[in-house]
Amino acid sequence: MSDPLLSLSAVTAGYGDLYVLEDVSLRVDEGNFVAIVGPNGAGKSTLLRTIVGGTTLHDGTIRYGNDDISRTPRHEIVDAGVGYVPQDDAVFPDLTVRENLRMGGYTGDGDVDARIGEIYDLFPRLEERPDQAAKTLSGGESRMLAIGRALMPGPDLLLIDEPSTGLAPQIVDRMFERIDKIHTEGTTVLLVEQDVSAVVDSSERVYTLQNGEIGFEGSVEEFQASDDAESLGW
Ligand SMILES: Nc1ncnc2c1ncn2[C@@H]1O[C@H](COP(=O)(O)OP(=O)(O)O)[C@@H](O)[C@H]1O
Ligand SMILES: [Mg+2]
Repeated sequence: MSDPLLSLSAVTAGYGDLYVLEDVSLRVDEGNFVAIVGPNGAGKSTLLRTIVGGTTLHDGTIRYGNDDISRTPRHEIVDAGVGYVPQDDAVFPDLTVRENLRMGGYTGDGDVDARIGEIYDLFPRLEERPDQAAKTLSGGESRMLAIGRALMPGPDLLLIDEPSTGLAPQIVDRMFERIDKIHTEGTTVLLVEQDVSAVVDSSERVYTLQNGEIGFEGSVEEFQASDDAESLGW
């Protein structure tokens, strides 16, 4: 097997003395679409936060490409090509849609406006409201903007925390269609999600996380046939 793009090896992490993740190991290969599913409170958000250096890492190693990023500050991880969309979006509420996208900081070839145009192609609803303040966007639009911001620098790996949060079911499907597109256009995707039915169409590999520990690991077909899928309500 070739080296993974991202790997966690025996990661134990939490918040100060609080241990949330226990002995978590996983890998994401370049070009993959990987989903980690689990119920509320399982540690999904903590897991993504841990990858970008936002928790207390007690034990284990996180590698990105050839680098050990276990102790790397978040801005350096972003510079290395990792985009992160937190569950609460973290858009700048008083800035407009366009200003938020600019803040994402395009670092590739070509100009910023061309890059914003690519984000608008992905999310036409954002193109319709470039001058609207982020705080006045609907939940779905805010999600789109947060993803768009994370895409601005052209990340190789996109981490998304629960795309379905706060969205109506029919919007969830559309959101996952967009994430599918991001993936097929060349970005590796790792997302965490409580809504199991939302991820099975898109993902290639599935992990389950319960009480901070990985349970199931396998292809989406293996997952669909497993008891874990049933217990998570799929
Ligand atoms: N900032 C924090 N400080 C302390 N404990 C936290 C913090 N964030 C989450 N937790 C705790 O970590 C556990 C896992 O939470 P979280 O990662 O948000 O789960 P999930 O995203 O799967 O719902 C919960 O018990 C939660 O209370
Ligand atoms: Mg969460």
